Amino acid sequence: MPLQVLDHPLAAHLLAHLRDKSTNPEQFRSMTETLTTLLVLQATYNIRTREVMVETPLKTTPGKVLDQPLAAVPVLRAGLGMLQSVVRLFPDVAVGYIGLERHEDTAIARSYYSKLPNLAGRYNLCLDPMLATGGSAAQAISLMKTHGATQITMVSVVAAPEGVAFLQNAHPDIQIITAALDDGLNAKKYILPGLGDFGDRLYGTP
Ligand code: PRP
Ligand code: URA
Repeated sequence: MPLQVLDHPLAAHLLAHLRDKSTNPEQFRSMTETLTTLLVLQATYNIRTREVMVETPLKTTPGKVLDQPLAAVPVLRAGLGMLQSVVRLFPDVAVGYIGLERHEDTAIARSYYSKLPNLAGRYNLCLDPMLATGGSAAQAISLMKTHGATQITMVSVVAAPEGVAFLQNAHPDIQIITAALDDGLNAKKYILPGLGDFGDRLYGTP
């Protein structure tokens, strides 16, 4: 499926501040939440609805309500910074967790935790702000599929072309939405220009 890059002045504004190395963790967390809200509104554009009749104080009128359960799966740690926005928008969301950590030298992700509900029939969001090599996202989505997920959207903040290509090749059936498609990866597999280590900037760790 094609990649969608969010195009909105507020998203661009927030992204510029997230990239700025002088942005402190408190500001970083707050702007991540707002940017995720914008991303998730776009990412859930195709969630199923059904028609209902609503009685206003004046007359009866047709309306639409959500008709598909949603699940959000943040990839620890950095994906946790995106979760609160989804929970605020969709209070009935089911939440699963996947813990993955890239090896410092090889950049290969190792799984250290997973707790997922049954994802069959749900509109599923995988939350991970950085799509670098795509290895973490591909593993997370494989795991979601083993728990029944068939409709999956990857929600990221910054993506590298290498990671997008890897993920599209591994999982051609998923949708990817991001706030930025950057230039590429450096020798240590960090995104350029990127914003550094998202987890460290979110949690104030060196
Ligand atoms: C970061 C990020 C992604 C992953 C992306 O996590 O949050 O999960 O790297 O890189 P990839 O596309 O090359 O796999 P990291 O492993 O640094 O763990 P953290 O979130 O706990 O800091
Ligand atoms: N993980 C991050 O947090 N940042 C990158 O640039 C790449 C992987």
